[in-house]
Amino acid sequence: MSDPIGICVLGHGVVGGGVRRILREQGGMILERTGLTFDLRHVVVRDLSKHAQHADLPLTTDAEKAIADPAVKVVVELMGGTGRAGELVEKALRAGKAVVTANKSLLAARGRELFALARRNKTCIAFEASCGGGIPIIQSMMQGLVANRIDDLVGIVNGTCNFILTKMTKNGWGYDQALAEAQRAGFAEADPTMDVSGRDAAQKLSLLSGLAFDVSVRESDIHVEGIDTLQEIDIRFARELGYVIKLLAIASRSGQNQQGNLSLRVHPTLVHKNDVLAEVSGSFNAISVYGSALGHALFYGRGAGQMPTASAVVADLVSVGMGIAQRLFDQVRIFAEGVPAARMLDFEQLQSRYYLRLTARDEPGVIARVTRILGEHGISLSAILQHETNDTNLVPVVITTHLAREGAVRSALEEIDRLGVVQPPTMRLRIIDPPKEFGTGN
Ligand code: NDP
Ligand code: HSE
Repeated sequence: MSDPIGICVLGHGVVGGGVRRILREQGGMILERTGLTFDLRHVVVRDLSKHAQHADLPLTTDAEKAIADPAVKVVVELMGGTGRAGELVEKALRAGKAVVTANKSLLAARGRELFALARRNKTCIAFEASCGGGIPIIQSMMQGLVANRIDDLVGIVNGTCNFILTKMTKNGWGYDQALAEAQRAGFAEADPTMDVSGRDAAQKLSLLSGLAFDVSVRESDIHVEGIDTLQEIDIRFARELGYVIKLLAIASRSGQNQQGNLSLRVHPTLVHKNDVLAEVSGSFNAISVYGSALGHALFYGRGAGQMPTASAVVADLVSVGMGIAQRLFDQVRIFAEGVPAARMLDFEQLQSRYYLRLTARDEPGVIARVTRILGEHGISLSAILQHETNDTNLVPVVITTHLAREGAVRSALEEIDRLGVVQPPTMRLRIIDPPKEFGTGN
């Protein structure tokens, strides 16, 4: 058995509390498996009075002093945000301490600079919990998939949005009720607009796509639409057409070589009910990766919540203790010097199938005018759905298309919304087809 590894945990909220529990309840098992023990020397919080029931913990508000403790070898950042958390991570790295973090916001905003700082100080940053909660996706990207050129990555990577959409779809809950429950369960970010606006998923996609494609990705490279503008009527129409709506993070490379342009996007998407992603419910996440040798692989598990996320944090602690994290950090190309910036596909050139919901006057010739405009832009229709109604004023009409270009759809909708017989704005969602390889049985 080696000497206990001194750790300081910044934050004792949802995830910090889970880390404390695992270290206490599973310390013996971890010791048997790895030969490692951890000495929780400091737990830094903002307000001591909130933690009065944990008098047995080494609680403090003095983060600087805790980090500077010479016996602390690893600083675990579980505070969230980019301000104070960033300052403290910097301090830890400058002091040569390894950092474990679940903070995708911080890495998306300052990853390049913090990774360089870690390299200069001959230490490392481990960040398994930053993407996919408890799913070991970062380690899989760095190790398990290293023999593969990655061409596609499609994921449900925000537990809060997936929880909200699941409750709205399967239980008929309203948006506000579902969001409140996600907050109560501890899935949501301190500022839940990070979740519902799609930003949290975009920050995770910037990390995952950097790892997948060996490029440097900025959050601003990613086209982002959240679930906050989605309406219940779209969930119902999608179901009627055989789809469910999921917030997907999608990274794909055009062409079959390392140089192909990347398309990176986060948006609500119609997923066919037979696609495995359609079955991913509640706070579960799933990341489907297409590797050149492996083909499709699906990483599935709880993407948020106390114990799943703490599981990934403690895995990182063990990885640091065993020297694996440092070796992986030394080789990883994300945020590394000389790694090229991602070459992005012009978003207008994106090819997708689309779901369009118009609010149209129920009058002769309206649909003919709409379909003529779509045809003039080279957009071919796949289905049209309109229900009988006694309301002769405005009715919802749903159109799905075959593959079309984003730019063509945008221009066509601008024209349609100017017709005067359609109430703008027309709702536009993208449809994704299931990977052909899944479900073939071969
Ligand atoms: P919480 O809000 O539950 O906990 C944050 C903790 O940090 C609290 O203990 C708080 O102290 C402390 N803290 C915040 N600001 C300061 C400060 N300025 N000085 C000292 N202490 C501070 O957050 P979570 O545990 O949910 O999330 C932590 C991180 O993990 C975030 O980066 C999040 O994105 C990430 N994450 C969260 C997941 C989840 O399911 N919750 C899943 C995956 C990643 P106090 O208690 O005194 O207020
Ligand atoms: N708020 C995030 C989510 C936490 O809901 O997925 C996990 O990163």
